[in-house]
Amino acid sequence: MQTTWFITGASRGLGANIAEAALRAGDRVVATGRKREDVSARLGQDSEQLLSLTLDVADATQAQAAVDAAIKKFGTIDVLVNNAGYGHLGFFEETTMQDMQAQLSTNLFGTFNVTWAALPVMRAARRGRIFNVSSLAGMLGAELCSLYSASKFALEGFSESLAKEVAPFGLHVTIVEPGPFRTDFLKPESLRFGDKPIADYDERRAALRASFEQRNGQQPGDPEKLAEAMIKLAGDPKPPLRFIAGSIAVNAADAKLAAMQAELKQWRDVSVSTDGTY
Ligand SMILES: NC(=O)c1ccc[n+]([C@@H]2O[C@H](COP(=O)([O-])OP(=O)(O)OC[C@H]3O[C@@H](n4cnc5c(N)ncnc54)[C@H](OP(=O)(O)O)[C@@H]3O)[C@@H](O)[C@H]2O)c1
Repeated sequence: MQTTWFITGASRGLGANIAEAALRAGDRVVATGRKREDVSARLGQDSEQLLSLTLDVADATQAQAAVDAAIKKFGTIDVLVNNAGYGHLGFFEETTMQDMQAQLSTNLFGTFNVTWAALPVMRAARRGRIFNVSSLAGMLGAELCSLYSASKFALEGFSESLAKEVAPFGLHVTIVEPGPFRTDFLKPESLRFGDKPIADYDERRAALRASFEQRNGQQPGDPEKLAEAMIKLAGDPKPPLRFIAGSIAVNAADAKLAAMQAELKQWRDVSVSTDGTY
């Protein structure tokens, strides 16, 4: 049976690779992007297999309209991929609430908007998959990533809870945690920076930004291979709650888990000493 995918941020980067991999697999794809023409330019004209739609995920009305159009054409959404996102790079003190609101509007509230729109039909079908694309920054904080990490940690807490809420309806949620992948992510057209510089941070900001610039185009992760892995996961009867992508992220997860275990062990006595004697 043909699977129907609904993918956000499919104009370029990982979202476009997932759409292409699903089309190659013979599946049906609803590919959405802020500019429909960008999606069509990348994936081709609409066909029996493909429907391209305008969707800025920060816009709840557009999210509902896109889901409605998807159902009208294909009758179902089997796999929802909440992929649209970008990184705001800046030291927390140099960012503003406006920066944070924009970051959350896409990376977190965008996922909420699309999931709210798609869940009723997916729940009614009593089967389906939801992939929420998080990041290594969703399990690990780093300098310059306070807003981005906040958005992805929140996405992970949301996804883990949602997984439990919708499991009785036959829906599986998988959090995808890529390390560095060679998409447009680190290009100036995708990244955002604050404009509230504080002199104390000048040196570190310049060094870190230069290091991000150097990594652009050098990331070891291949988004085509990640897309193929996601096609495999979508067909697996028991997909994981978390899928860590790339050896950098796998090694970082190992190190984080080991550090958490060690800290838990070191402070266990004090931790349990807070139990009440009621
Ligand atoms: N590449 C990495 O190293 C990496 C690592 C960890 C996590 N990720 C995550 O992977 C996901 C995909 O990123 P990518 O690497 O493919 O980056 P990318 O090449 O920059 O692509 C980002 C995509 O998201 C879309 N987008 C951004 N804001 C949007 C909005 N408000 N509504 C709809 N679409 C929006 C962009 O659309 P436009 O073309 O309209 O700008 C583009 O299609 C993101 O969630 C990112 O956080 C990436």
